[in-house]
Amino acid sequence: MSCANVNTLPCGCRGSRAEMSEAVDIAPATGRLGVLLPGLGAVSTTFIAGVLALQKKLAQPIGSLTQLGTVRLGKRTDHREVPVRDLVPLAKPDGLVFGGWDIFPDDVYAVACKAGVLERELLDQLRPELEAIAPMKAVFERRFVRNLDGAHVKPEKGHRARIEALRADIREFRKAHKLDRAVMVWCGSTEVYQAPEGDMFEAPKALEAALDSDHPVIAPSVLYAYAAIREGVPYANGAPNLSVDFPAMYALAREAGVPIAGKDFKTGQTLMKTILAPGLKARLLGIDGWFSTNILGNRDGEVLDDPESFKTKEVSKLGVLEQMLEPEKFPELYGDLYHKVRINYYPPRGDNKEGWDNIDIRGWLGYPMQIKVNFLCRDSILAAPIVLDLALFLDLAQRANMGGIQEWLSFYFKSPMTKPGLTPMHDLFAQKVKLENTLRHLMGETLITHLGLDYYEDE
Ligand SMILES: NC(=O)c1ccc[n+]([C@@H]2O[C@H](COP(=O)([O-])OP(=O)(O)OC[C@H]3O[C@@H](n4cnc5c(N)ncnc54)[C@H](O)[C@@H]3O)[C@@H](O)[C@H]2O)c1
Repeated sequence: MSCANVNTLPCGCRGSRAEMSEAVDIAPATGRLGVLLPGLGAVSTTFIAGVLALQKKLAQPIGSLTQLGTVRLGKRTDHREVPVRDLVPLAKPDGLVFGGWDIFPDDVYAVACKAGVLERELLDQLRPELEAIAPMKAVFERRFVRNLDGAHVKPEKGHRARIEALRADIREFRKAHKLDRAVMVWCGSTEVYQAPEGDMFEAPKALEAALDSDHPVIAPSVLYAYAAIREGVPYANGAPNLSVDFPAMYALAREAGVPIAGKDFKTGQTLMKTILAPGLKARLLGIDGWFSTNILGNRDGEVLDDPESFKTKEVSKLGVLEQMLEPEKFPELYGDLYHKVRINYYPPRGDNKEGWDNIDIRGWLGYPMQIKVNFLCRDSILAAPIVLDLALFLDLAQRANMGGIQEWLSFYFKSPMTKPGLTPMHDLFAQKVKLENTLRHLMGETLITHLGLDYYEDE
């Protein structure tokens, strides 16, 4: 086979011009990177303690693509597989500095002990460093998280005053730790459900006016995101509430050249869904029903025990299957799909969630079959490496001048943010290809399409 647009690439392999790109100018990852975390709860403290344990060589970064992942470059016959962290200039976990906000004043050591995710023996080896990280006072409104109440909150009233207070915190944190750059990852509680309806969610001007007039619809997580963007700090949202996921904020972030990503860390049951469902769909097996239930006993579970916070989570979890299976295109396979998600607060289990999935599938000639998944997972253990990867990739995106939505980070989210009108991609493996191709694109490497016909050209 010969093809007009096949060229010899700098690496010596052959690929199409359309698949090649010039390397993007990326500022070096010199100096110190700060990671700011609104919400110093189970996920944040597991992340911070984990990174400190890595720094002391007490543990391995299992679950982290930036630390353990590799990317193939060039053709399969080139045998070039490079670690992600050697391919792109990433900040090193060694140099990270942590800060955050919470409505409770406990330091990271105290919270981690209470959360019960990590063993006391490990935490005690990190105790002085963990105790040195105490939360800044939070911006909080109880009507958005109704099952929690804490007194460690800022005295400022009004949106503008609160934004200014958060911006001052960010500047002070950067100055105190002599940081060159900072990123923010929302690890705060899930706020009550809100649909992004109304002008203030659509247009930046209307959003500014809503901030000026203290509009009651603006949640604290929006104020954190706004403060971050205005301080030039990339922002990712680990929870399913809106925060940065509406068009007015996309426009602000783009205009300011600040990367944003979200939303809702993809861990546990939804991770399994986005592994299993694309496989069943690839084989054109029908799905009649998918019933998912969980028991969970941590503070997140307590917050989600409020129906309004659960609704936010439910919308995020339910969208995944619908969007992956496309029942409108495959009515005979998924037209009658019944999808149910339940989260039950059950304190004895703490952070060790147990999830059950019953999947009713249909095969050849409509014969029914069942799949049962019983996942005994650890929520924060699955989420912590995601926080690390997001922090490092957001910082990379910032240094590569990639402002606005970072769709290539969909890999990490249950409900990936996209430009309005663009269908999100949920298939974990498609998301991984997208992420890896973005890294290849940044470094001017050939994008990999998996076509592979050229291997057989000389036969
Ligand atoms: N662990 C997972 O696998 C996972 C997966 C997806 C999403 N999430 C989301 O990540 C978030 C964190 O999870 P977690 O298990 O650490 O919960 P957590 O309850 O242990 O921690 C959340 C913390 O946020 C604090 N908080 C609430 N509102 C705040 C505000 N306005 N400002 C500052 N702090 C505030 C709470 O006091 C609490 O300490 C939750 O929204 C959860 O739904 C977690």
